[in-house]
Amino acid sequence: MKKYYIETYGCQMNVYDSELVAGILNGEGYEATAYPEEADLLLINTCSVREHAEDKVHSRLGEFSHFKQENPDVLIGVIGCMAQNLKKKLIQKKPYVNFIIGPDGYRHLPLILEEAPRKKHIVDTKLSRFEVYDELFPARNEGINAWISIMRGCDKFCSYCIVPYTRGRERSRSLESVVNEARQVIAQGFREITLLGQNVNSYRHEKHRFPDLLKAVAEVDGVTRLRYTSPHPQDADQALFDVHRDYYPVVCNHIHLPVQSGADAVLQAMNRSYSRDHYLRLVEQIRESIPDVAISTDMIVGFPGEKVQDFEDTLNLMEKVRFDAAFMFKYSERPGTKAALLADDVSEEEKDRRLQAMIALQREHTLAQNQRHIGKEESILVEGFSRKTKAEMMGRTTHNKIVIFPAKDYQPKQLIHRSISDARGVTLFAMED
Ligand code: SAH
Ligand code: SF4
Ligand code: F3S
Repeated sequence: MKKYYIETYGCQMNVYDSELVAGILNGEGYEATAYPEEADLLLINTCSVREHAEDKVHSRLGEFSHFKQENPDVLIGVIGCMAQNLKKKLIQKKPYVNFIIGPDGYRHLPLILEEAPRKKHIVDTKLSRFEVYDELFPARNEGINAWISIMRGCDKFCSYCIVPYTRGRERSRSLESVVNEARQVIAQGFREITLLGQNVNSYRHEKHRFPDLLKAVAEVDGVTRLRYTSPHPQDADQALFDVHRDYYPVVCNHIHLPVQSGADAVLQAMNRSYSRDHYLRLVEQIRESIPDVAISTDMIVGFPGEKVQDFEDTLNLMEKVRFDAAFMFKYSERPGTKAALLADDVSEEEKDRRLQAMIALQREHTLAQNQRHIGKEESILVEGFSRKTKAEMMGRTTHNKIVIFPAKDYQPKQLIHRSISDARGVTLFAMED
């Protein structure tokens, strides 16, 4: 049996796509291996969102080329966003790569594998307006949470972002096919589902919008927890918050709502299509509608033209919202995007300074928000032993916060209830029963 090895970079969409590709390969009689040195087929599923993400892949490909030097029959394939972004250019620099496939070409993999040994190179980077891989079933690794892609692509064109170019136009799967996949993953033993898309709340299929889909999946028997990522503030509305309220605790008490910046001038230059005020009003509306909700976000520092005052405005927005968690990034210029036409005029040192200040403030907020849970009983979905010791186990709350507690004979996927006793760093702690 031929063996394949896949390494995945980037966001959860890529994790999902790797599972999709694994499903296709298993169907072709290939077998997965965790060891690249014994693989006949090496695949790297790549990300272009920041320069650093691409750098990592370049260096990893260098390492892959050694396996091929030892065994010239080994095939190397680059798939995902970098394949789409760089196309032929990637092969010109890395001639040992046999084929590259963009995110809409995975269906062609069996044919490409058949042709690759006879051909010098294969480049399959045509984007599709329709491909949603509806009837293909991903080969998921065992676990607690199953990711389900509900839509592909993005039409938002935030000026800094490469995703609309690497993933193409927005298209949604039918409600029925998503619900079917939800039933299948529950039958396989998953307890939590996370619905995935670059822009989940612009989901639209026939008469169905995102809140309808969320309800339909929440109603599937056996779904203990339901999450989704990421929504866009422009399309977030009361109908969505109502589903949170009406379907709690299945729909988790957590909303990840990327703000990117707290300064109107920067938001406008980013083409984010909402104002600081609109975002703050949304947060108010969310907190009024959903008691005890956790809110997390994404933010970028050092966007072209970001003044010190703009950055201060972002810190000030953080003070107003007090996010439970945040992913924070230094702006990274992506050739081909609108923002790449602007001067990348915030120095690297200044980006670093802003990022560090932002991280420090967020750390305070995370801790303060976590301390709110002390003394309260939370339901915890057990994941397993803590990373440090078998004397402790870990799980997550509905807010997606990690809780550490003394080990007992709990099984992964068990839902337990514990009173939170402490909050340190980004972690919650609970005592024994
Ligand atoms: N579709 C999702 C996010 C996709 S990328 C959404 O809009 O929420 C994840 C995060 O990476 C973005 O939210 C943004 O904060 C960050 N990001 C995207 N492009 C970037 C760039 N060029 N430089 C730095 N950060 C970037
Ligand atoms: Fe990128 Fe904006 Fe689309 Fe998110 S919404 S993927 S940040 S273009
Ligand atoms: Fe990266 Fe592509 Fe996801 S660029 S963040 S892997 S959609």
